[in-house]
Amino acid sequence: AIDPQFTENREKVDEHNGHAVWGPVDEPEELGIHGTHVAVDFDLCIADGACLEDCPVDVFEWVDTPGHPESEKKADPAKEAQCIDCMLCVDVCPVDAIDVDAG
Ligand code: SF4
Ligand code: F3S
Ligand code: ZN
Repeated sequence: AIDPQFTENREKVDEHNGHAVWGPVDEPEELGIHGTHVAVDFDLCIADGACLEDCPVDVFEWVDTPGHPESEKKADPAKEAQCIDCMLCVDVCPVDAIDVDAG
């Protein structure tokens, strides 16, 4: 599961689509965590898609990640600022790749 303390345990190494990327990143095999309020561990995401289907405010968008061992696309929290903290995505992700800091 995604580390809920990732902002303390990882370094911000990049920006993508207006959100932070938390390393380590070593493309294409290691992609880190995208987003901060809505954070998706790209190295855990298996492209299940439940988060994209269920988010009521369409926070997520697919991004292609060719060459990643778990899946060739990931759910990117492209509109994390729109999140209403419903926690649906956290509940539906089969691999617990998503953390939402509702506090
Ligand atoms: Fe969307 Fe709710 Fe997840 Fe926020 S907590 S990203 S609103 S599903
Ligand atoms: Fe990935 Fe979990 Fe969404 S596997 S596509 S973050 S439901
Ligand atoms: Zn991203």
